[in-house]
Amino acid sequence: MSTSPGARKRLLIVAGARPNFMKVAPLLRELGRGTYPFEAHLVHTGQHYDRAMSAVFFEDLEIPAPDYHLEVGSGSHAEQTAKILVRFEAICRQDRPDLVIVVGDVNSTLACSIVAAKLNIPVAHVEAGLRSGDRTMPEEINRIVTDAISDYFFVTEASGVDHLVAEGKPKERIFFVGHVMIDNLFHQVEKIARTPPERFGTHAFKARHRDYGVVTLHRPSNVDDRAVLAGIVGALAELSEELPLIFPVHPRTRSNLERFGITVPDRLQLTQPLPYLEFLNLFKDARVVLTDSGGLQEETTALGIPCLTLRDNTERPITVTEGTNQVVGVTPERILAEARAILAGHGKTGRRPPLWDGQAAARILHTLQRVLS
Ligand code: UD1
Repeated sequence: MSTSPGARKRLLIVAGARPNFMKVAPLLRELGRGTYPFEAHLVHTGQHYDRAMSAVFFEDLEIPAPDYHLEVGSGSHAEQTAKILVRFEAICRQDRPDLVIVVGDVNSTLACSIVAAKLNIPVAHVEAGLRSGDRTMPEEINRIVTDAISDYFFVTEASGVDHLVAEGKPKERIFFVGHVMIDNLFHQVEKIARTPPERFGTHAFKARHRDYGVVTLHRPSNVDDRAVLAGIVGALAELSEELPLIFPVHPRTRSNLERFGITVPDRLQLTQPLPYLEFLNLFKDARVVLTDSGGLQEETTALGIPCLTLRDNTERPITVTEGTNQVVGVTPERILAEARAILAGHGKTGRRPPLWDGQAAARILHTLQRVLS
């Protein structure tokens, strides 16, 4: 498509997996104000496809139906990435965007940035520059490759700028804008305040327990290894005698618990994956969150809730240096000791990181308006 000066630029925005949806929602909402010279189309790769992992998020986050759905589904990393490569290339040839926006670090992020770069379509990476230093994490490979071929880098925390500069990216292409996921968080917290609590299926659990903890686990390094998963679940089971725990279980984790024959005591309450609003309504009032999620480390920091990260590293160090996060590894004794310290009132306090103020999407779109004109 010809793009004469002043014409509306065409943006193709990519989402594929659950942690992408809360990042594209604020961009689409901001674009919906109609004040930017952009025509945006949304692509859903279908990397996540179960209703509980995808459609309910579109509803809760008020994301419009995607313009294109690639329906790639699950598979090995190579299979999934390959399917996205082939199908997204066809969409790019058809849609002819002036810019592709990818968010986060999932396989869809990687695949779509490669396609766009090879078609000489500029790529903007939202949540650029994060590094765990751990290349056994599939997301770390996705981050490194995506940033290697992106043109514009939108960064959530200072460490991201440092990594990109160290990797030789031009400073004028790096924009420290804050965090679209936190834009979404604040928007949704306001929505919860207007929602009757009985609307949530976990209302009874919250009403029954004034103090409780929330657990999520899905990293392959934690849930694909029987000994590691059994050790973590053992620690959680013990902790649940002192603090009721609720644990919405990711499909990968659910199938591994079954496959390994790991039993979970009733007091550690398992649920299906929860819709965004319902999950937020739970963790925003928790005494502690125990997780291996990236996004949850940041959301708990933004809301001032103590978070124990069950990993050996984090690509989001601001949540530790300024926020409420502690990276505690997966040794059962350590998990228990840190959780008990929080229950005894020695939890970490923190402050909200710079620019995590709900305005990141507007900063990104203003920047794109300037650089694309
Ligand atoms: C993916 C992302 C990860 C992100 C996570 C959030 C990559 C490399 N990984 O990992 O960064 O933190 O999503 O959930 O992109 N499954 C279903 N229904 C679904 C989706 C998956 O049942 O809608 C099952 C399938 O059996 C699949 C397994 O869950 O094999 C794992 O899903 P997959 O998308 O491969 O990786 P995630 O662990 O979800």
